[in-house]
Order: sequence, then C-alpha cells, then structure tokens
Amino acid sequence: MHPMTAANLRNAYGGESMAHMRYGVWGDKAEREGFPNTARLFRAIASAETVHAGNHFRELGNEAGDFLCASMAAFGLGTTSQNLQGGINGETFEINEMYPVYLESAKFQEEKGAQRSFQYALAGEKTHAALFQKAKEAVDAGRDVELGPVHVCQVCGWTHEGELPDVCPVCGAKKDKFQTFA
Ligand SMILES: [Fe+2]
Ligand SMILES: [Fe+2]
Repeated sequence: MHPMTAANLRNAYGGESMAHMRYGVWGDKAEREGFPNTARLFRAIASAETVHAGNHFRELGNEAGDFLCASMAAFGLGTTSQNLQGGINGETFEINEMYPVYLESAKFQEEKGAQRSFQYALAGEKTHAALFQKAKEAVDAGRDVELGPVHVCQVCGWTHEGELPDVCPVCGAKKDKFQTFA
C-alpha cells in the first residue's frame, strides 16, 4: 500500500476509535442529565464509529508495525449541549475536510480498499452530524430529543433513524446486518 494512504487509514482509525470512546462517555453523561434518547443516540453513533475503525484497521492488514497516529481528538466532559456540539464539530471536520481529502488521495493512489473504507465512513458521518444537530436543538430547548429506533449497519456504519431499509443504501448489506438501538 502507498505510505500516504496507509498513514491516512491509521489516522482515521485513531480518530474513529477515540470518537467511539468519547461518545460512550458523553452518552453516560446525557443519561445522568435526564436525556435518555440523547444517550441512546450517542451509543448508537459510538457503535457506528467502531464499524468505521474496524474497516480501516482491516484494510491495514498487511501494514503491520508500530506507528504514531495523528487525528483530531476532542477532549472534555462538558454539559450534554456542549458534548453534542463537540460531536457536530468532529463529524463536520470529517465530512468537509478529512474524509474527502483521504478519499481523493486514495483515488489518486488507486487504493481500492481504502477508497471503500473512506467512502463508507464519509457516508455515515453525514447522518451523524444531522442527528447530533437535531438532538442539540432539543436539549438547548430544555427537553430530550424525540428519537425513533436508530439502526446502524454493521458492515459500513451507515446510521439511520426511523424505519429499517431493506438494504443499506451505502453498502448494500441486508436488513439482518443492522443493529438497532431502540
Ligand atoms: Fe461519526
Ligand atoms: Fe451499510
């Protein structure tokens, strides 16, 4: 694999891994603040980040060794409103900067597996940003978000609130590949 694409996969893996942990902690905080749906949303999205991280890691299967990873990492346990803003900021960075640039690099270097892994993540992050935004508007109005079941594709990490689609629109996985947070 081209070194730059490998480095981008490692950095994305690092970012997704930390997002998974951070959303878990922020979900617990939302629960304690009396926002159970927001907590459920954090947990669902945390699970999607695990899928993204796992896909990046698997693409690196032949790139064994010890490396430093660099990625944007938000720290701090704020209020749930602040934590949701942290989620929006992180997802927006991934949507507008990180994944489009990583994806173009992988295309230029003709790294097909990395392209797929970056595409899957980019598609998932778009719904994450929108769901966090919806939750933040509710929490800022002093109430929990109204939230139907949240489905997470365990193949690509695409995340969808509402009715479960027959197939994942991003990766084509069937219904039974979804994990539902209800
Ligand atoms: Fe995300
Ligand atoms: Fe999928």
